[in-house]
Amino acid sequence: MKLNYSLVTRRTFLNTLFGGWIASFFLGSLYAVWRGAFPTLGKEPDFVVLPKPADYLDIPTNSTKAFAWGGKLGYIFKRSDNTVVALKGVCSHMECNIVYKPADRKFYCPCHKGWFDEYGKNIEGPPPKPLEFFEYRVEDNKLIVFKKGIKVELPKA
Ligand code: FES
Repeated sequence: MKLNYSLVTRRTFLNTLFGGWIASFFLGSLYAVWRGAFPTLGKEPDFVVLPKPADYLDIPTNSTKAFAWGGKLGYIFKRSDNTVVALKGVCSHMECNIVYKPADRKFYCPCHKGWFDEYGKNIEGPPPKPLEFFEYRVEDNKLIVFKKGIKVELPKA
């Protein structure tokens, strides 16, 4: 059956088009302001360069030192056997920040009560996989922490 008139009037069509344009413009502007206010939020670098390596590497046994891994948390961690490792300080479940509990020698995620041993293995709670570890090296009195398999070359001064 063919109608002799349109179900959508010209006014409705133009109002919908204009409303959609206004909504797109508003949401786009809001997103731009959000990204401008929090440029590193959620971003992860391939490496970070930290000054004063001794501040991170000469920490007491069985302790951590936090650093900014882009917009996330990173830790330098000296295990009870004195090995020093670098790791991402977020849980493998839903990326909440983890904390180290020296008395238990474990990392704890307060969001859903997840636990990791000092080697990063998920041992209790919902975390589905181990913590992510990084590599590091000291160069020109800087501590370079980088993702495994990434080649980092600093510009020569
Ligand atoms: S986010 Fe860590 S246990 Fe859920």
